[in-house]
Amino acid sequence: MNTKAIIDHLNECLKHEWTGVAQYSQAGFIIEGMWRQVYAEKFLGDAEESFNHAKLVGDKIVALGGVPSVLRNEVKQSRDLREVLEFSLAFESKAVEMYNQALDLAEGDRALVIFLEDILKEEQEGVDEYSKLLRESSQHQASLPASGKKVS
Ligand SMILES: [Fe+2]
Repeated sequence: MNTKAIIDHLNECLKHEWTGVAQYSQAGFIIEGMWRQVYAEKFLGDAEESFNHAKLVGDKIVALGGVPSVLRNEVKQSRDLREVLEFSLAFESKAVEMYNQALDLAEGDRALVIFLEDILKEEQEGVDEYSKLLRESSQHQASLPASGKKVS
């Protein structure tokens, strides 16, 4: 394993997590209207997940002999909820890609692989969740099994 390469890549992961802390917090702060009731808490929870990953990755960078980055990437924000959900799906998808790349670099270090796999699993859950939130349920109703009773 190339320690310098993994430290550099983990710092890119850390920058992405810092971006998530700011981007999800901002989404939770500014959401207004009836969806605030649902999404303010959801977005702030995702900001906390990013912070938790940042803590894990920052500690690991130091353990490997590196210095954690305090930088972040550009934050995407919008008042349009659907657009925020699309930003969120893109954010989670990029995280999956980045931790997959980190796993390639960590090959040979079993403990580091497991550490990264645990984070990757949560990033994939984010992709799954935002994919479902963005799916138009009306497109899927035709494929539901007949219940025998009409709801509406
Ligand atoms: Fe994360």
